[in-house]
Amino acid sequence: MAAGSWRRSIAAQLSKVLDLPPENLIKSISAVPVSKKRHVADFQLSIASVIENSSSDCLAQDLHLQAQKLAERAVLQQVFKDGSEYGVKSEIFSAVPRQKAVIEFSSPNIAKRFHIGHLRSTIVGNFIANLKLALGHEVVRINYLGDWGMQFGLLGVGFQSFGNKEKLKSSPLQHLFEVYVQINKAAEDENTKKLAKDFFRKLEEHDEETLSLWKQFRDFSIEEYVQIYKRLGVHFDEYSGESHYREKAQEVLKMLEDKGLLQKTTKGTGIVDLSEKKDLSSVCTVMRSDGTSLYITRDLAAAIDRMNKHSCDTMIYVTDKSQSHHFQQLFQILKLMGYDWVERCQHVSFGLVQGMKTRRGEVIFLEDVLNEVRSRMLQNMTSAKTTKEIQDPMETAEKVGLAALIIQDFRGLLSSDYQFSWDRALQSRGDTGVFLQYTHARLHSLERTHGNAQLTDVNVACLQEPDAISVLQHLLRYDEVLYRSSQDLQPKHIVSYLLTLSHLAAVAHKTLPVRGSAPEVAQARLCLFQAARSVLANGMKLLGITPVTQM
Ligand code: ARG
Repeated sequence: MAAGSWRRSIAAQLSKVLDLPPENLIKSISAVPVSKKRHVADFQLSIASVIENSSSDCLAQDLHLQAQKLAERAVLQQVFKDGSEYGVKSEIFSAVPRQKAVIEFSSPNIAKRFHIGHLRSTIVGNFIANLKLALGHEVVRINYLGDWGMQFGLLGVGFQSFGNKEKLKSSPLQHLFEVYVQINKAAEDENTKKLAKDFFRKLEEHDEETLSLWKQFRDFSIEEYVQIYKRLGVHFDEYSGESHYREKAQEVLKMLEDKGLLQKTTKGTGIVDLSEKKDLSSVCTVMRSDGTSLYITRDLAAAIDRMNKHSCDTMIYVTDKSQSHHFQQLFQILKLMGYDWVERCQHVSFGLVQGMKTRRGEVIFLEDVLNEVRSRMLQNMTSAKTTKEIQDPMETAEKVGLAALIIQDFRGLLSSDYQFSWDRALQSRGDTGVFLQYTHARLHSLERTHGNAQLTDVNVACLQEPDAISVLQHLLRYDEVLYRSSQDLQPKHIVSYLLTLSHLAAVAHKTLPVRGSAPEVAQARLCLFQAARSVLANGMKLLGITPVTQM
């Protein structure tokens, strides 16, 4: 049987029995999840979906097809043949059209705290982008900075009194935050308030000197962010931000007016009526009384601009759920404006994370989190005395620590809130990112010791033990899991798949030794472990984790 198509091959055989075209059957065939009870079945056929396509009622007949051997033999070949594309090249994706997706995520505010919500947005958005890209879609990653608004008036004034150009260059995020905190304390005073207002007005009026200072704030901050995102393995195609849309937001107000959607209140603010009965029972403010734009107005402009520029098939926003109402209103207004593409916009929201603190206290910067997880992990590694042979313990600690953060975050539904715990995240046993990394490193060291298996020489018949079969069977399901995550954009399917894979591989590693076995058996087992490691690595990378080879 040709590699790459166990499902196709089963479909072909079934099609003879059922008298249905094989293409109709492919999506109804799935591997059976590995369970402790060990099912006898090796694959399952969704009867409901077959009946839809079938006039025959001969489904009750025995469909025993010796599928187990067929599928298991094929899966190793498939894993090696497809490499990093194993699973994503599966026929279950063949009906999914290739699309272009714009994904906006992270989007921190300059001079303000980077909170855990921004971190969550960063890793979730990165995961969605990785997954879509792996599945062959085109992806544009946008970071939409909070780089405009009254806070820059205060920041400007603050910088004039407490600012330091050197510090701005060397550690912009920290310095701007400090200046902002300092000036906020002074902002009680009427004179400071007035100065801040003036500064912001000058910005809005494009006063060159003012604008150039603001631009330095922004440019230096981005430079530092790029470096920190690098530690996370995250990059953006575009650094956009609210500042880009202050003029276009005025055009949006004009358009709303032309379409008869903008209403003035007695206070002079501009609103859009979102109620069904048009009785103002639900409204959204889009303009201040002085005519300036708001957060939502700039988002309207940004959405229209993105769609014009990228003509994408989907536009995704990743933020915490406290902004759900904001995005609902955004989409409602776009719809009223007649933009049908709003149907293709989506807010991917996630729950709140409570209690993330570092030893130094509250998390203020992304860097604090990264440093904290690295130092805690390094400490654990040192006490476990595994660090001695590692070439770069700091780097390894960082990668393992990040895996711990990501897995803790991705284990449940994104919409659920959870209580953050360093200890739980960093446990070396149990369902953690540390365990995934550890498994990956162990499997990798097996390959280092025994060399790569030659698939051509492998006799898969040597893999008859239940522990081997479980791994093979689990490998068969990878594409189905990717499919689920691609449908609901939830990483948890992949996470639990990888945790199970690691547990199964750990058991097999114990019960199926390579060393000391007959050459043919050793080769087959090596091949099995190599396949498991390859799929584990692929899945981890999708989640935004860099697999380590030692720890
Ligand atoms: N900067 C905002 C914040 O920190 C998030 C921006 C979300 N994206 C958007 N298009 N509104 O709350």
